[in-house]
Amino acid sequence: MDSSKSPFCYMDNAATSWPKPPTVLAAIHSFYTELGVAAERSGSSRAWTVDRAIQKCRHQIAEILSAQRDASIVFGYNGTDVLNLAIHGVLNPGDHVVATVAEHNSVLRPLEYLRQHLGITYSLAECDSQGVVCPDSVEKLVHSGTRLMCLTHVSNVTGAVQPAQELGRICREHDLLYLLDAAQSVGHFPIDVSEIGCDLLAASGHKGLLGPLATGFLFLSDRASATIRPLRQGGTGTQSETIESPSELPYRLETGNLNSAGIMGLSAGVGYVTEMGWGPIQDHELKLSRQLIDGLSAIASVRLIGHQSPRRTGIVSFEIEGTDPNQVASILDSTFGIQVRAGLHCAPKMHESLGTLSRGGTIRVSPGMFNTEQDVQNVVSAIQDITATAKHGI
Ligand SMILES: Cc1ncc(COP(=O)(O)O)c(C=O)c1O
Repeated sequence: MDSSKSPFCYMDNAATSWPKPPTVLAAIHSFYTELGVAAERSGSSRAWTVDRAIQKCRHQIAEILSAQRDASIVFGYNGTDVLNLAIHGVLNPGDHVVATVAEHNSVLRPLEYLRQHLGITYSLAECDSQGVVCPDSVEKLVHSGTRLMCLTHVSNVTGAVQPAQELGRICREHDLLYLLDAAQSVGHFPIDVSEIGCDLLAASGHKGLLGPLATGFLFLSDRASATIRPLRQGGTGTQSETIESPSELPYRLETGNLNSAGIMGLSAGVGYVTEMGWGPIQDHELKLSRQLIDGLSAIASVRLIGHQSPRRTGIVSFEIEGTDPNQVASILDSTFGIQVRAGLHCAPKMHESLGTLSRGGTIRVSPGMFNTEQDVQNVVSAIQDITATAKHGI
């Protein structure tokens, strides 16, 4: 797809990916123009078509995660929704949780809420100067009351890929449930839930998988499925004669009408990504982020943050000496038509750890599948212009 036709240069794919492939738009359009019915709630041929489309998407997601059973995939409405389902669903009063400073507020805030209202406790492991979690420092925080470990697979601030498999080994050794926040990893490189050893994997459908907003999903291991409590109860379109929700997955955790149009779009997005293949996706992202890092590091007043992490995705964060990140982002948008994200990126503890909290966070550029080398060149040239002006005050 040619993003050069767009009047602006979108570089905020870590927030949500854009543009969406035409197949994704066509799938959403076809739901509302040709189908438009509630799945699981009618025996009509159109309802069956929607049911099949939802099951197809469930199967595609199970495949990209190398999950054994399609029923281990539960649909939700975004990454935050399924992280809440996982965290609220497995914790009990008195439980201790180990997480890291790299976590997004979609993990930190549910933990803090449950600390205040359910009586759990939690500890956060530090990162090194590149934003990478050290497994030893995580293991030191585990004690006899620890029940759950949470890890963000890829930092949404620095793009660092965290040592997920090593933490999986720690969880097995200490018999902990393991929740991986894959919002920034799914769709960027292959993930194998058995290899990593996670019990719960929560992800957005609208970022790396190119689906529409309001899509997300949770993978559950057999162990997690046996213990998780649903956040909501209500109609499922099945077993309506009973006062209790169905006990089997995925229906126990999927209540009310699903976002069928969104799931059909997500299915097309997953199809697009898998057809493209992991190699070309990773090569493209790393090529653009390398170009960004090289271009930005040649500008004297730019300080790159976490760019030396040994494994990374396309996200690049930086600050410009003496400037406010939000003001820079605003100039990039209004003067150069470039959209990035600035600030704390909902990850305040990570900025505290990296030393960028008191300076208002960082400017984050997150190229996506449809960005080009020309887009990156535009960003570098714009930052050159802004820093030249900054010398005289912006
Ligand atoms: C690491 C991480 N976790 C969770 C989320 C929340 O995902 P969503 O926007 O789908 O709710 C995000 C979103 O940016 C994220 O970057």
